[in-house]
Amino acid sequence: MSQFQKKVELVRSEVIARDVVRLTFNALEIATAALPGQFVMIQIGSGKDPLLRRPFSIHQTSSEGYLQILFKVVGRGTELLAQYRVGEQLSLLGPLGKGFVLGEPSKACLVGGGMGIAPMLFLASRFQQLTTQGVVPKVILGARNREELLPLIGDFEALGLEVLAATDDGSLGHHGLVTDVLKIINLGSDFTVFSCGPRPMMAAIHHLCLKEDIRCQVSVESAMACGMGACLGCAVPLKAGGYAHACSDGPVFEAGELLWSL
Ligand SMILES: Cc1cc2nc3c(=O)[nH]c(=O)nc-3n(C[C@H](O)[C@H](O)[C@H](O)COP(=O)(O)OP(=O)(O)OC[C@H]3O[C@@H](n4cnc5c(N)ncnc54)[C@H](O)[C@@H]3O)c2cc1C
Ligand code: FES
Repeated sequence: MSQFQKKVELVRSEVIARDVVRLTFNALEIATAALPGQFVMIQIGSGKDPLLRRPFSIHQTSSEGYLQILFKVVGRGTELLAQYRVGEQLSLLGPLGKGFVLGEPSKACLVGGGMGIAPMLFLASRFQQLTTQGVVPKVILGARNREELLPLIGDFEALGLEVLAATDDGSLGHHGLVTDVLKIINLGSDFTVFSCGPRPMMAAIHHLCLKEDIRCQVSVESAMACGMGACLGCAVPLKAGGYAHACSDGPVFEAGELLWSL
């Protein structure tokens, strides 16, 4: 698997909602090699603040070599990242980690919550490319409110996909959790659920899928320092005992391999 460390140019910066930003980089090698579910580590700033690269899921790629990330401003690194301007250069390392194992598009259900929606767009694009006879994957997206969710839904609809929405405050779609929607649509056991979002959301999805005998893959966003299997900073507990590296063994895992607590 090819990995690159490249200085790439920021070609677009969009504020999607309050504190939610999408950046587009001209990153031909990384974009071409990337698979859905993989991530990049980004060096933010040129000095020692912040010292470590920050990990971000690959949100979308294009055949022209553009690569997008979508992120929420939560601390020092993301605050600085949001301030970069078009034309500036950043160092990207990637694509890193193991991505989703794709199956039959008509038997796929993508579930993204909050910034866990980021990798779902890239995954949806790949499924859409595999789609035959107009049979498309199901998509369920959840966020706190309409403001955060609506602009992202448009990107999935542009791919020809219908989105089932859930918001915490009921301002768009179902008033409640993505898991409520997952229960309502009643998938068959021949489906695979692909999920990324807050850990409690993924734990609930895993337990639901387990009950219904549905395969479930999750992308785990644990804190990371090196992103390459060298520091043990990203250990995730396994059901069979011991730990895996989220950065190199994941970030995508079969949900049943991990040790969950609700
Ligand atoms: C594989 C992977 C993919 C990711 N993809 C995305 C993405 O697509 N979009 C996005 O917005 N974020 C994503 N994240 C999380 C992102 O890396 C962190 O939000 C970012 O590193 C925070 O940096 P900071 O310097 O702004 O915040 P810090 O100052 O480092 O931390 C600020 C706050 O955020 C919390 N935090 C830091 N890292 C994480 C994390 N990994 N998970 C949960 N809380 C965290 C800290 O505990 C602290 O409370 C991903 C993380 C991983 C491991
Ligand atoms: S982040 Fe260093 S081992 Fe995974």
